[in-house]
Amino acid sequence: MSESRKLFNTAKKMIPSGVNSPVRYFEPYPFFTKKANGAYIWDAGNTRYIDFCNGYGALLLGHRRKEIISSVSKQLSKGTLYCTPTESETELSKLIIGNFPSVEKVRLMNTGGEATMTAIRLARGFTKKKKIIKFEGCYHGAHDSVLVKAGSGSAHNGISVSDGGLDEVSKNTLVVGYNDMEDLQKTIRKNKDIAGVIVEPIPANMGLILPEKGFLSDLRKITKENDIPLIFDEVVTGFRVAPGGAQEHFGIEPDITTVAKALGSGFTISAVGGKKEIMDLLSPGGRVYQASTFAGNPISVSAAISSIKTIDKIKNKLYSKLERFNLLFSTALDDVAADMKIPHQVNSTASMLQIFFTDKPVVDYQTSKNANAEKFQKLFRTLLKNKIFIAPSQFEVVFLSDAHTQSDLNKTLDAYHLALKSVKN
Ligand SMILES: Cc1ncc(COP(=O)(O)O)c(C=O)c1O
Repeated sequence: MSESRKLFNTAKKMIPSGVNSPVRYFEPYPFFTKKANGAYIWDAGNTRYIDFCNGYGALLLGHRRKEIISSVSKQLSKGTLYCTPTESETELSKLIIGNFPSVEKVRLMNTGGEATMTAIRLARGFTKKKKIIKFEGCYHGAHDSVLVKAGSGSAHNGISVSDGGLDEVSKNTLVVGYNDMEDLQKTIRKNKDIAGVIVEPIPANMGLILPEKGFLSDLRKITKENDIPLIFDEVVTGFRVAPGGAQEHFGIEPDITTVAKALGSGFTISAVGGKKEIMDLLSPGGRVYQASTFAGNPISVSAAISSIKTIDKIKNKLYSKLERFNLLFSTALDDVAADMKIPHQVNSTASMLQIFFTDKPVVDYQTSKNANAEKFQKLFRTLLKNKIFIAPSQFEVVFLSDAHTQSDLNKTLDAYHLALKSVKN
């Protein structure tokens, strides 16, 4: 019996389904990890995989990036948690504000879900309205307001509203189709009580979906015209698509922004930022409550300062390298699947990509859902057998990191070749 199977059999006696987050589970059992470094992750039996899950996007710089480890090690010798303000928190806030011109003030917290929960509460506190609009298939964390027709693990497990979630909450979440401006216009016209619109500017939780030309600028326009705060959930795209996230990439300024993942390079940290008049509503100065024991803890803050400084130092090479790798990766994938006459779509941008087994363009949740998920599972399994680790769901994406080399890419393409053959058979 493999090491991972043994560990899983023991774990599931104590941990529900043996995992601490649903997307980590796959049939018949997930591999258990022993260690990771650079572009690689090792399972309990010492098999090395090239990692394209990359902490679901957090590891833009790869595992154990030396600059991050060095900053965190220094901080470890000075303490791990103070629960008093530190100068480092101000330094980090300045760095975030410097990268995101739409952000005038920022509050640090721990997870992406905490950040989107606070962003929505701020929008409600600011407008004194109730309803929020989200897009079908976008994922913003595991809290009631946004766990409605969400992507990621909830889509993978077919949970459109979670048991235990309150109807009173989910009925105040209006869901519209991504890339569907008409649906959005209609929803805004019909509802006068809208506190905010939350969107993944580049959705990465229903596979990878690209905003159609003009969609995000029209979204900005219509929200402005109707005095509705626009929340860009840049938990994935912040620092990954550009140092200033998708808003820099598309030249659009939202009212509230959430960032996490690549901000901390694998350490637990997130942030909510926005205009002063909105951010100053946060307690204790204002009456929108948000709090956390671990918010702004010195370990995560040192990791985030180091992440931003490292990204800033290498940004001229980093983003062009990742884009070049992505172009090679996605073009090769597209070509091989086409040669094999497998109906497919490859969506890609910046350092993210995904293949879907369908002959129709994938532009939203419905078209993503219509792709053949069984074939995707076959692809995933054959890749894993060939020591390539991607996230185990059609509704996730392949994340590239700075640690990936040309040789990793070549090995990965060979494995995709075999995996696509298995899909065809
Ligand atoms: C776009 C987006 N927002 C929010 C979240 C929630 O972040 P967390 O899992 O840290 O709560 C995720 C998680 O994958 C995400 O992809």
